Amino acid sequence: MKTLLELLRRRSCKVSSIRFSERTLAIKSSGIRRLFDLAQRTPGVISLGIGEPDQDTPVHVKEAAKKALDEGYTHYTPNAGFPDLREALAEKLRLDNGIDAAPDEVIVTGGGGTGALMLSALCLINPGDEVLLPDPGFVVYEAVVLMAGGKPVYVPLKEEDGFRMLPSEVEKRITSKTKCIIVNTPSNPTGGVLEEEDLKGIADLAVKHDLYVISDEVYEKLVYDGHRHLSIASLPRMKERTVTVNSFSKTYAMTGWRIGYAAAPKELIDQMVKLQQFTMVHAPAVSQRAALAALKGPQDFVKEMAEEYDKRRRFIVDRLNSIEGLSCLRPKGAFYVFLNIKKLGMRSEEVAMALLERAKVVTVPGVAFGPGGEGYLRISYSRPIDQLEEACSRIEKAIEELKGG
Ligand SMILES: Cc1ncc(COP(=O)(O)O)c(C=O)c1O
Repeated sequence: MKTLLELLRRRSCKVSSIRFSERTLAIKSSGIRRLFDLAQRTPGVISLGIGEPDQDTPVHVKEAAKKALDEGYTHYTPNAGFPDLREALAEKLRLDNGIDAAPDEVIVTGGGGTGALMLSALCLINPGDEVLLPDPGFVVYEAVVLMAGGKPVYVPLKEEDGFRMLPSEVEKRITSKTKCIIVNTPSNPTGGVLEEEDLKGIADLAVKHDLYVISDEVYEKLVYDGHRHLSIASLPRMKERTVTVNSFSKTYAMTGWRIGYAAAPKELIDQMVKLQQFTMVHAPAVSQRAALAALKGPQDFVKEMAEEYDKRRRFIVDRLNSIEGLSCLRPKGAFYVFLNIKKLGMRSEEVAMALLERAKVVTVPGVAFGPGGEGYLRISYSRPIDQLEEACSRIEKAIEELKGG
C-alpha cells in the first residue's frame, strides 16, 4: 500500500530549478496541513485531524472587534502591542500563572503562539546550538529551531509515563552545546500534562546548566480531573530564563485572529519586539482590540468550553478503548487523544490512510510529530459528540476489516 505521505507528496511535488536556502529545505512541510487539505476535498469526511476549537469566538469578542473597526482600529499599532493589552496580559500572567510580569515584559505577537515561538527561537538560538524538544511534540518546535540554525534534540515521551517529559530523560541529553529546552504542557499531540515534580526537575536542570526554557502553554485552560496548570516561569529562579508562550487561539476559539503573546525578561522582550518590527510588524490592530475584550470580559466561555471538552474526552476515551486492537490513555489536557495502534502491526501513516479511505475519518499519523509518534494516531475530539460517535463507529468497522485482511 502506498503510504499516505507518499501519496500526498506526489500531489504537491514538482521538480524545482529554484536554488532554495538549506534552511528552507531542512524543514519538512506539516503532515497535518496536508491531511486537512485532502479531507476538505473528500465529501462525507469527519475530520478528527485538526487542532482547533470547533466553537465560534464568543459574541462579545466579535462585537468588540466590529466596534473597533468602526472606531478606526485599522492602522499600525506599537510593535509590542497596544499598551492597555500588554497591561491586561501582565495582570493575567500575575493572577493566573503566578508570573510576576510587568507590561514591558510582555509582547503581543502577530501570527499567534506560532509567531511567539518563532521570535523566541530566533532570539535565543545560534547556529549549532542544541535545543531539547518533546518527541512526540508540536510540529512547529522543530521547524523554528531549524529556522534559527539550531539542532533539534528529541527527548522521548513515553506512554507508560503518561507522555510526560521526564527530567531524567532531559538530563541525559544535555551537552555543552545545549542552549534551550522547549516544554509543552498540556501537550499537543498527546494531551499529556506535566506534574509539578517534572517542572521542578526541568527547572533545576535549567538553572544548573544555565539553559533557557521556552514554555508553550497554549492549552493551559484545557485541563481535567482536577489538574491545576503550573507555569514553569513561576518557579524560583525561572522567570529570568523562561519565555512563556501563549495564545488566544485555543482559550477563546480565536485561531483565525492570529494573535498570541509571550512573557520574558524585559531585555529578551525588547529583542523579540525588534525582530517582530522587521517581520510581522505587530499583531493585527483589530485582533488586539478583540483580545483585550476576551481578557477583560466574562470568562464563562472558557469554563464551559473546558467542561464540554471534558465530556467529549470521557466519551471518546471509553469508546476507543472498547475497540479491539486500539487503546489510549485518558489524557489530562488539551483536546487530543494519542491512540495506540501498535497491535495492528501497521505504520501510523498506513492506518491513517486506511481510516481515511475506508471510514472517511481523518486522523493524523503519530509519526508527523516526531519518530516517537510512530505506532500512534492523533485524534482531536474537537467535534460535537454525535460526530465523535459516528466517527468511532466507522473506525471500529474499518479496523475490523483491516484485521480481517
Ligand atoms: C502546542 C501548541 N502550541 C502553539 C500552537 C499555536 O497556535 P496559534 O499559532 O494558533 O496560537 C498550537 C496550535 O495548534 C499548539 O498545538
